[in-house]
Formats: sequence, structure tokens, C-alpha cells
Amino acid sequence: MYLTKEEERIYEGEEGWTRKKAMEILVAIGDINDASRLIPVTRTHLSGASYKTIGDAFEFISGLEGRVSVKSTLNPTGMDRERWTAMDLPEKFVVKQKEILTAYEKLGVSLACTCVPYLITHKPQKGEHIAWAESSAVLYANSVLGARTNMEGAPSALAAALIGKTPFYGLHQAENREPEIRVCVKCNPADADYSALGFLIGNLVGGKIPLIELSPSSFPSKDELKHLSAAIGATGSVGMYYIKGITPEADARGLPGEKIEVEKGDLKKLYEERAEVDVIAIGCPHCSALELHRICVLLKAEGKGRKVRRDFFIFTARAIKQRMHEVVKQIEEYGVKVICDTCFVVSPAFERYNSVATNSGKMLRYVPLLCGGAEVSLGKTEECVRRAF
Ligand code: F3S
Repeated sequence: MYLTKEEERIYEGEEGWTRKKAMEILVAIGDINDASRLIPVTRTHLSGASYKTIGDAFEFISGLEGRVSVKSTLNPTGMDRERWTAMDLPEKFVVKQKEILTAYEKLGVSLACTCVPYLITHKPQKGEHIAWAESSAVLYANSVLGARTNMEGAPSALAAALIGKTPFYGLHQAENREPEIRVCVKCNPADADYSALGFLIGNLVGGKIPLIELSPSSFPSKDELKHLSAAIGATGSVGMYYIKGITPEADARGLPGEKIEVEKGDLKKLYEERAEVDVIAIGCPHCSALELHRICVLLKAEGKGRKVRRDFFIFTARAIKQRMHEVVKQIEEYGVKVICDTCFVVSPAFERYNSVATNSGKMLRYVPLLCGGAEVSLGKTEECVRRAF
């Protein structure tokens, strides 16, 4: 890969050990992927924030010096930074988690601690080159916002943050953003159907970029697209999708020859209901302001003054919780807990449950694998709220 004189100086260590290591990571990734050069990125989003997922590997981050070169945000950690005492976490976990946060803060990373950076102050524009980790956010950025990012891992996103550049390959290049498979959806999805749809599409397309054709009467909301993105990222390995008539550039693309169909019955199979659930979890990806508002309305309609009978957690970004503090207060009056900075999957605090109800396709995939083997029931948001009483 071609390096400019300045990049070579960094590679040789003339700007210190941290920048040398970061440049070595970028060059190694660039070489593996036949990138011709590095390109500047305007922002990065970093994963590897929870002690549950990275363990003691964070000590590498603590040893880094200097500051990130571009605006950089952090994914959810393993605990709510204000309510961790109520989360019943082992003391060692809390100490290590705090060290991780300190290490990122020292590097100048914004401790947004959310997987929806595009819903706070970190929304990239169409055509903007960025370097994001967190598959749900990558799919949303590429597909819904029309930005350009590869599916970064924790080390490559951090390296891009430190240098402010990323290797020019994959989804940064227009020719690699062509749809490769048509997905014709033969029903009108709504709410968690988009989680189910994404779950199926990810499984069916693997690494091929899908061009999704919805019926003309389907207009997915931003939140539904968020759930679709997260679920495709959970079961597939592709970094973007198109929806005809909805997402940027979709209509300018030719129709791929390969075609598959998804019917109502295919989605229905994923809604298998367990007899009993012991916890409700909503907010994967983190809830938007609109979702919080809607859950509040549903709680009022279903609860009629009663408190929930099961543990019920909602996960969101701290910035969104602050903005919606009145609504959050009303939600919590029903006995529901609105948690920030973390989520059901990346915190060990939620591993004590056996059966979870959620509207999230990403949780459908990851809870059985990462949360002590708990079962998951997918349900529409309204159904999840009903099951809490
Ligand atoms: Fe976000 Fe956690 Fe889900 S990081 S996408 S809420 S698994």
C-alpha cells in the first residue's frame, strides 16, 4: 500500500509508539485487502468498551498515548455509569470497567457509550468516509445515511481514530457497493417484523449486498430501519443493504439477477412464544426518543396505573435519556428501569434470566450465545409491554 512521506514517518515511529502501532494496524489491514492507499475519515465509532467482551485486552488501550485525530464515540460498556451500584456487579468488574472508560477518555474519545451514535450528535452525511465498528451502526450508516464505512473491528476503528485515516477498500469504493441479490418481501412488515425480516435476510444473503423490495405501501420508519440494520448485521456478514424507493442510491442501482422471496409465514416462524418470560428487554439497538415516547404511551394504555409484574429494562443513550427525562420519569413510575451506557447483551448484570421477551432481532441472535443461554421470544413492542403485566 502506498504511504505518503508523513504516513511513512509515523510508520517508522517518528511520532511515537502509539501512532506507530496504529499505523502498523492500518497498513496490515490495507495490505490484506489490497488497498492502494489510506484515505481521511471524518469520524470514528469504537467498540471494545465492555469488560465483559474485551476482558484484560483493554490494558493495551491503557498503554496508549496521545489523542484521537477525529471525533470518536464509544459503544455501550458493561454498566450504567450512574446506576451501577444497583446492578449487582462484582467489584472486580466495576473496577476494570472504570479503567476502560478512563483509558478511552484519556485518548479524547467521547464516552457516548451507545450503539446509536447517529441519533446523538454523530450523524454522518451521504458520501462521508468514516470508520465505524458496531455492525448495527455500520449497516445504518452505509444503508440509511449513505455514508461509507467498512465493518471495522475494535483495533482497526481505534487505529483509524488515532491516525484519522483508513485503508481505501471495500465499502469505501463505489464499485463495491453494488447490490448482489434481490430480496422480494411479500408482506407488509411493521414494528418487530423488521427485526424478523433482518434476521432472515442476514441468514439468507450472508456476505451479498441485498436490494430489498418492499410492497409499495410499506414505509419503514427510522426506528424500523434501525432494527432491520441490527438484525441483518447480527445474522449476516454484509455491511450494507438497499431498499428500493427508500434508501439513498437504491433506485440508481440495477436489479441483481439472483432473487429470493420472503413471505409472511417466514417471519411468523420467528415469533415463537415461550410460555413464561421472566424479563422484558427493549432497546437493542438503544431506543430513540420516539421509541421511549411510544413505550410510555403503551405502558399507560396497558398498565392503567398498575406496576409491571416482571423485570422490564429499556436501554438507551444517556444523551437521549436526558433529553426525554419527563417521559423517562413516567416510564419508571410503572416499575420499568431505563438504563444507559450498556445493554442486555454486553453487561453481565442480565445473565441471571432464563427467558427474555424483546422486539430485537439482534437479541434473538446474541442472547442465547452471550447471556448464559437464556431463551428469547421475539414480539412486537406492544406485545412485549403486554407481557410485562
Ligand atoms: Fe447495541 Fe447492545 Fe444491541 S450494543 S445493538 S444494544 S447488543
